[in-house]
Amino acid sequence: MKVSIIGGGGLVGSCAASALQFGGIVREIALVDVNQDLVEGQRLDLLHGAALTSDQVLTAGGPDLSKDADVICITAGLRRKPDESRLDLINRNVTLFRGILGDLKKHGYRKDAIVFVVSNPVDVLTYLAVQELDLPPQQVIGLGTVLDTTRLRSMLAQQISVPPSQTQVTIFGEHGDSMVPIWSNAQIAGLPLDKYPGVTSALIAEVEKKTRGSGAEVIAKKGGAGFAVGASIADVIHSIALDQRRILPVSSLQNGAYGLHDVCISVPTVVGRGGALQHIEVDLWPKELAALQRSGSVLRETIEKVLKG
Ligand code: 2OP
Repeated sequence: MKVSIIGGGGLVGSCAASALQFGGIVREIALVDVNQDLVEGQRLDLLHGAALTSDQVLTAGGPDLSKDADVICITAGLRRKPDESRLDLINRNVTLFRGILGDLKKHGYRKDAIVFVVSNPVDVLTYLAVQELDLPPQQVIGLGTVLDTTRLRSMLAQQISVPPSQTQVTIFGEHGDSMVPIWSNAQIAGLPLDKYPGVTSALIAEVEKKTRGSGAEVIAKKGGAGFAVGASIADVIHSIALDQRRILPVSSLQNGAYGLHDVCISVPTVVGRGGALQHIEVDLWPKELAALQRSGSVLRETIEKVLKG
């Protein structure tokens, strides 16, 4: 399995490459970037550790490296300013993103390729990629709220001193201000969260608030996310590479689940070699469903304004 990472010279792309290297599952990691010195430097830095990480092919170069990739991961983009919302970023990133899609069309891509969008605002750019690429919609997915879900699980676990791996709570909706934590099905080691020792509604509210602000916080403190977004990207790619069909909150084009249509947004999605194979619809609290549909409306408005306006 070959993965190309467009923007592989940057923080998000290089951390994703490192996570894939430690994972040792994919066969080739191709770093693509406009900054050829930087991307070659990232490749060398990865290569230097190969003896202790994994036996993979590590390449670096221009957009032609994606033409035979099984997964094309797009991380390139301008970063938000700490006080800027992801949707504000859209106009600055749409032009850049259209250029990346143009390169893919120019150099070609496999008809069974999975295009995996990370660049922000990820839901709107995933929708743009669905529209512009000649691939079945299920083969175009976005990181969506996978990173938010990872953050929430990890920080909730720390708050109540339980293993993050046994902390099960997920986030649907926009990767952005209207994201929807799904507390109705939250569990710790299979036990209901709201009955777990030490868990209070105040603690839940605090962790939710911290999660919502995590992107801006990490931008303010260190310039942008790296390790956690890299791990989240690798987790999705591994479900594709091994056709694991794990249920992940990736962003993909909706066709009816939760009443959502013609928008890319995160709902529980079976992720395998074919991409977004199935959307899973479960009962939510009425307020969760309402918030999810509101999130869908926020994204639809932006799509109409920016992509179709
Ligand atoms: C974040 O939330 C990169 O949007 C990503 O940090």
